[in-house]
Amino acid sequence: SELKILAVSGSLRSASYNSALARAAQKHAPGDMAVEIYEGLRDLPLYDQDLDTDTPPAAVADLRRRITEADGLFIATPEYNYGIPGALKNALDWASRPSRGSSLTGKPIAVSGAAPTNFGTVRAQLALRQMFLWTDSDVVRKPEVQIFRAHERFDETGNLTDESTIALLRDLLDALDRRIRDRRTIAAS
Ligand code: FNR
Repeated sequence: SELKILAVSGSLRSASYNSALARAAQKHAPGDMAVEIYEGLRDLPLYDQDLDTDTPPAAVADLRRRITEADGLFIATPEYNYGIPGALKNALDWASRPSRGSSLTGKPIAVSGAAPTNFGTVRAQLALRQMFLWTDSDVVRKPEVQIFRAHERFDETGNLTDESTIALLRDLLDALDRRIRDRRTIAAS
């Protein structure tokens, strides 16, 4: 059956490399995988535990439902000041509650990122992987997809044109695909 993946870019910028990377994941996904792009990052309120009730804000309920319904997540993160951009962290904080059995619990996740710098997103991805320990998510460990010097790998319209990067991205999506199917096999046995 077809696997449903929700792709989240951590950037709100219209010409974002990370949003371009999310679109590349959609384009280069294996044949049994459908990638949908989450566009709701800017509609989420700032995380506030007072708003985190049985009837959370509509944008939050939508985010949680879409993560829950997805078989896996694909995240493309920028690096802001060696860390996770606030808008992305905010979305993941909302998604992580309630802590027991949240939309992120056990969720297969592929982490990636793009930056025009030489070592961009290495630290942000490490911070994401650390965060996903607390949420008990199932993060694919390899391959690591850190697209540094991104301006040399995407064209002006945001198409990923570098063949070796496309191959690396395909490897990550294949690894996510296998992880989801392995979990199903274990759950069924
Ligand atoms: C950056 N940038 C950046 N790059 C990096 O490699 N390490 C870093 O710590 C930072 N810090 C940082 C902070 C802030 C507030 C901004 C706005 C930018 C540069 C960043 O990699 C670049 O702007 C990317 O293009 C952002 O990703 P998108 O928007 O292209 O997806």
